[in-house]
Amino acid sequence: MARGCVVVVGSLNMDLVVRCGRLPQVGETVLGLEYSQHPGGKGLNQAVAARRAGAEVAMVGRVGEDALGGSLRSLLAAEGIDQTDVVQDPAGTGIALIEVETSGRNRIVVVPRANGALGPGQVNAAERTIRTADVVLLQGEVPLAASLRAAEIARSAGCTVVFNPAPVPAPCASLDRLLALSCWVLPNESELAALTGTADPPVGGVALRKRSGGPVLATLGERGALLVTDSASLPRPFPARRVEVIDTVGAGDAFAGAFSASLAAGTEPGAAVGFALAAGALACTRSGAALAMPTRAAILALPAPVRPGDGAGDSL
Ligand code: RIB
Repeated sequence: MARGCVVVVGSLNMDLVVRCGRLPQVGETVLGLEYSQHPGGKGLNQAVAARRAGAEVAMVGRVGEDALGGSLRSLLAAEGIDQTDVVQDPAGTGIALIEVETSGRNRIVVVPRANGALGPGQVNAAERTIRTADVVLLQGEVPLAASLRAAEIARSAGCTVVFNPAPVPAPCASLDRLLALSCWVLPNESELAALTGTADPPVGGVALRKRSGGPVLATLGERGALLVTDSASLPRPFPARRVEVIDTVGAGDAFAGAFSASLAAGTEPGAAVGFALAAGALACTRSGAALAMPTRAAILALPAPVRPGDGAGDSL
């Protein structure tokens, strides 16, 4: 496999995780089962996922001048991710408060802190790094102006821009511009609904495709994924891989990172979707976010789904 290069412009968080039997209702208190602290943030998770899936990876982002930031930087170093463009910020490392119930469902509140100070100036300073990418991978956890600037640099350099709109930015002209600059848009089901105002994924996928610069690839949890290549042809479904779910936190990040690594290596998109679905499924079998990302070897070892022609390519 050719080793492509993925540059992630995005967030790094420390995840404070409580496991509980079931998620509380609004205003209700439940007793938790255990507490743990893990590296996370959609940017960091996707960087680790892409790296473990076989890509060279560089990260552009911000951490605090604190012990949590030091620990995230150590992880980047241990994973072999270039952190030349990860800047320290006095605002403190981003925090995510995460509740995971026994069924695997989760709820997350993110406080961006240092991530909130990532702006176009820092992205401009990282221009040389961004221009080396085959794929530039973006999410919604850092200011939109930074993601938009990264997409502009990437497109001017001929890089593929993959945008995972998580969380979905508020509607504005910059979001429209970012969607238009995106070669791939990867929402999950609720993000697709928020972006398009419809809960019907095929309808929403076609609507979003009209606003994006390239295909829409929506993840649908245990129903797999839906690929809308252009607004004139029928959406193509891809089945999910069956695994025993422990924790779904980071599953979408595993999908986005592995998909980007696969595209960066020159893999045909249908096969890249199959590879990414396997990565997303495997991330659900382990607790945690960044540390739950599967290796390329594990992804390739996961048995293919039963239905033929679903894009899980033998050549991966
Ligand atoms: O996608 C999962 C991630 O969302 C967590 O790691 C948390 O940090 C939030 O960013």
